[in-house]
Amino acid sequence: MSIETLPWISDQCPGVAVSRRSPLSVVPALVRDPLQALPPEIYREPVVYSQVAGRRRILLADPALIHEALVRNADALNKGEDVRRALGPALGRGLLTADGAHWRWQRQSVAPAFRHEKLLGLLPSMIAAAEKTRERWLAPGAGASVGIGREMMRTTFDIIVDTMMSGPGEIDVARVERGITDYLKPTGWVFALSILDLPDWLPYPGRRRAAAAAAYLRSSVTRMIAERRRNPDGREDLVALLLAASDPESGRTMTDEEIADNLLTFVTAGHETTALGLAWTFLLLARHPEQEARVVAEIDAVTQGGPVRPEHIGQLAYARQVFSEAMRLYPPAPIITRTATRSFALGGFRVPEGAVVIVPIHAVHHHAALWTDPARFDPERFAPEPAKARHRYAYMPFGAGPRICIGSAFATMEAVAIMAVLLQAVRLRARSDAMPDPMMKVTLRPRREAEMSVERRHPFQGAVTQMS
Ligand code: HEM
Repeated sequence: MSIETLPWISDQCPGVAVSRRSPLSVVPALVRDPLQALPPEIYREPVVYSQVAGRRRILLADPALIHEALVRNADALNKGEDVRRALGPALGRGLLTADGAHWRWQRQSVAPAFRHEKLLGLLPSMIAAAEKTRERWLAPGAGASVGIGREMMRTTFDIIVDTMMSGPGEIDVARVERGITDYLKPTGWVFALSILDLPDWLPYPGRRRAAAAAAYLRSSVTRMIAERRRNPDGREDLVALLLAASDPESGRTMTDEEIADNLLTFVTAGHETTALGLAWTFLLLARHPEQEARVVAEIDAVTQGGPVRPEHIGQLAYARQVFSEAMRLYPPAPIITRTATRSFALGGFRVPEGAVVIVPIHAVHHHAALWTDPARFDPERFAPEPAKARHRYAYMPFGAGPRICIGSAFATMEAVAIMAVLLQAVRLRARSDAMPDPMMKVTLRPRREAEMSVERRHPFQGAVTQMS
């Protein structure tokens, strides 16, 4: 059937639920926590239509519709102005925020850094960073409790800087980390201004701090790029790939600014998400002793009580299931959005140019029609048989289609390596029975830093093991 004969999607379409929340209720929720601005219907219905400030928004939770939009009609969708207004000042037009040909050559340029053999070579560095965290926790005089989000950020930050940029060089790691948090904090305001079509320059709380953070982040990587141009030293990392990349259409290479866009993109996208996925994993395991015992037993069986080695990581199947289930309940990137650059067919309707298509991953992962007892933590859902029986897009912590996370295999390897090293040595205990409330600031984090107490696990003796 030709697309012209299809009816436009609207609040009158059969099978399309409608949200009639007013901007007066949506916008404050968006500023506080965009998850709270989602229409509750999307946790039960396949598709929800809403119009806020004259803009059509189509929310999809049906896996078949998500496939039709993000995969089959990927060329009719781009990241859109909301995303660029929120992230552009820090990430410019790097891989996450760019569209079209500019996105494509950047993706092709960095792809070699994420090939399977290359990733296997990064495992020693991932294990070593986790060992550093373990030794910090078990050092004489260390406190008995840790802020689990902060600790995981530190660990994954060490890994991303070490693996992608061959180490921090002159970068002040603590300041960069703080800068990223300061930058992300007020992004709800930016989304709200963008949805209401209000200008960029309007003031909002945290704006000046976010701008200072973005400037600091950029100046620190720009210095590093200049140093690498002066001393190209044969290293084979992401920086080298970006320095060597050339656009297949024009033949031009990347400017320092474009390289900085991408380094900032990888540092930001590549450490916060995995850190939060791990923090939620440990918070869940602390409240589920049976599953915790099973992961620990698997780690002990695979490592035979010795140090965790790169070849062990692929054998830790249950640990991977646990991490997957934690990301189902608490997807680190809980909402993705696109804007239609032309009209396209979706589920028998026509989506108009300019409409915003929202895939609320959090709602898909908790959807009443897709999951039995969706709120229950159950890593068995990711055992091979049940996983095979599920629609491919009922679970999508890394997104879908050509814009799927380039770091998904990196993140999974890293998470399992960190779980193995830490759970082998320590037991993490929560302060209360209830899970902390989640809050979205681009990524999904505990509303308040969650403190966990650290107990040395018997019979781990605390031998510091250096990777050979
Ligand atoms: C558990 C950890 C992670 C999660 C849950 C996650 C999630 C996502 C999601 C959902 C997207 C798609 C966004 C969209 O469609 O709008 C994405 C894109 C991206 N992620 Fe990840 N990510 C993780 C780890 C990483 C890591 C470790 C890296 C880098 C080392 C990374 C780099 C990127 C980049 C560069 C993009 C943009 C890709 C493109 O548009 O071509 N991510 N991520």
